[in-house]
Amino acid sequence: LYVKPGPVENFNAPSWLDLPLKHVIESQQFNQASLNTIFEVARQMEDVRPGTPESRALDGAVMSTLFYEPSTRTRLSFEAAMARLGGTVLSTESAGEFSSAAKGETLEDTIRTVEGYADCIVLRHFQAGSAKKAASAASVPILNAGDGPGQHPTQALIDVYTIQREIGRLENFTVGLVGDLANGRTVRSLAYVLSMYENVKMYFVAPDVVRMKDDIKEYLTGVGVQWEEVDDLSAVAAEVDVLYQTRIQKERFQDRPDDYELAKGRYIVDAKLMALMKQKSVVMHPLPRVDEISPEVDSDPRAGYFRQAKNGLFAGQGGQGVLIRSGAAPGGDLGAS
Ligand code: CP
Repeated sequence: LYVKPGPVENFNAPSWLDLPLKHVIESQQFNQASLNTIFEVARQMEDVRPGTPESRALDGAVMSTLFYEPSTRTRLSFEAAMARLGGTVLSTESAGEFSSAAKGETLEDTIRTVEGYADCIVLRHFQAGSAKKAASAASVPILNAGDGPGQHPTQALIDVYTIQREIGRLENFTVGLVGDLANGRTVRSLAYVLSMYENVKMYFVAPDVVRMKDDIKEYLTGVGVQWEEVDDLSAVAAEVDVLYQTRIQKERFQDRPDDYELAKGRYIVDAKLMALMKQKSVVMHPLPRVDEISPEVDSDPRAGYFRQAKNGLFAGQGGQGVLIRSGAAPGGDLGAS
């Protein structure tokens, strides 16, 4: 990403000028240095108030949110962040139905059209690999806001920012990734990012039909991350510092409803499970939830999932996305660092 200072002379984000990314497609593009920079700016974003010069930092910038799949948090947090920094949003939800995709337009042609109107494009699509495809056709930055069961890298930024804020460190901790790990793009992206930090141990807790896929397990093994698959969530509840629950994604089981029935309801976070967890720990969830976290947990101070959603305004979807002055972005390839 290339960030051009806005109209605010003393806007305190100089290091962003050198962040060597053009598009955000997958978590492996980041490293600890770029993450630190993003989190530093995200922390500054928490203090932006209406009416201040900082709240006009993106005056004149235009962002398009092109969403082919449903969303509450991702689309609205990107849009809210843009609005809070003085920029403008061109929004398309249900793009498969309400954009010219419904008339047969290809994703590439849509991107080539929208880039004429907007300085960056935030894309959510139902196909893994679609963000990369869009980036190959784009001259403005593409931000992957979830590509089917592929990745959701801006969610991973929010998640890691949240872990740091909640437990006070990004090294030497244990995380339990729970639920639909096969289809869960957030857990896939998160696993990649967490692998960049020292001594993060991962437990994978998933029904048999949605276990973590081999590509992630092989990657983690290759970079020396300790991971283990376990069946019994209560057996590891006392050990984890971060419990990251996810929804069994019914929409990914259209061809195999029996597997959905096998997977749903298998792992529930409730008051009984919370009683086993450390006092200093956090329960996270990218949301939306269905029944995998009981509402009785919401009042527990360790329930961090709505704080996590709010962090989307500052971190992955906000602090990162809206700071792009993409009219100034250099052209070229994916720009991965
Ligand atoms: N976490 C997340 O991607 O939520 P939405 O689907 O509501 O955007």
